[in-house]
Amino acid sequence: VRTAAVIPAAGRGVRLGPGAPKALRALGGTPMLVHAVRAMAESRAVSLVVVVAPPDGAGEVKSLLDTHALPGGSWGNTDVLVVPGGESRQESVKLGLDALPEGYDIVLVHDAARPLVPVDTVDAVVEAVRDGAPAVVPALPLADTVKQVEPAATPGEPEPVVATPDRSRLRAVQTPQGFDRATLVRAHATVTDDVTDDASMVEQLGLTVVTVPGHEEAFKVTRPLDLVLAEAVLARRRL
Ligand code: CTP
Ligand code: MG
Repeated sequence: VRTAAVIPAAGRGVRLGPGAPKALRALGGTPMLVHAVRAMAESRAVSLVVVVAPPDGAGEVKSLLDTHALPGGSWGNTDVLVVPGGESRQESVKLGLDALPEGYDIVLVHDAARPLVPVDTVDAVVEAVRDGAPAVVPALPLADTVKQVEPAATPGEPEPVVATPDRSRLRAVQTPQGFDRATLVRAHATVTDDVTDDASMVEQLGLTVVTVPGHEEAFKVTRPLDLVLAEAVLARRRL
């Protein structure tokens, strides 16, 4: 069974602060997106990567990726396609799926903003889909206690806590999330609510999503401090 990875990379990166779109920002001198593509291509299972670029930036992203490919323009045994994305992450993933050729029955969806995911995590996700799960997410226990609050009526006012979910049963989930292709396509065709990950759309179809162990280094680069951590992780790898 052939596996493709869709990499949504069309976001602006508002929380990271002013600058280029997040996926194109440098990490150790190389754009974050290039790290993410390499992370997918490193897995022997992944034979195609579909990069979803900023809506007006597909041409630029294509030349950028060409610059960082191996001599001869390849990514090992992995092909790379670039398509323009949309207004929301969900829309961008859908556009990536629409561009997926026939013959790929397992699809990974991986945030460009998680450039340092280890290949073992990617392989564990693929393995669990091959074993029959329709949807798989890498997950980690939480360090912080989580509170549910009643949002303040006026911004800046204190927010009352309404509940404290049992932390031992909560997980923070990462990407790549892995899917049986037909299931993910159906989820994107059916679910219209705003969601923050693809697995939740499969949950809404009434199917069971399973977890595999996530990895600390698969964290998402969201705010400036995350970039500091990412640089440090990369520097440690290069020792
Ligand atoms: N993404 C996308 N298309 C969008 C919005 C987000 O492809 N319209 C992608 C981002 O490029 C990123 C991933 O979805 O790789 C996860 O989203 P997030 O971390 O929220 O990135 P941004 O949306 O770029 O950041 P922010 O929310 O701070 O603007
Ligand atoms: Mg976002």
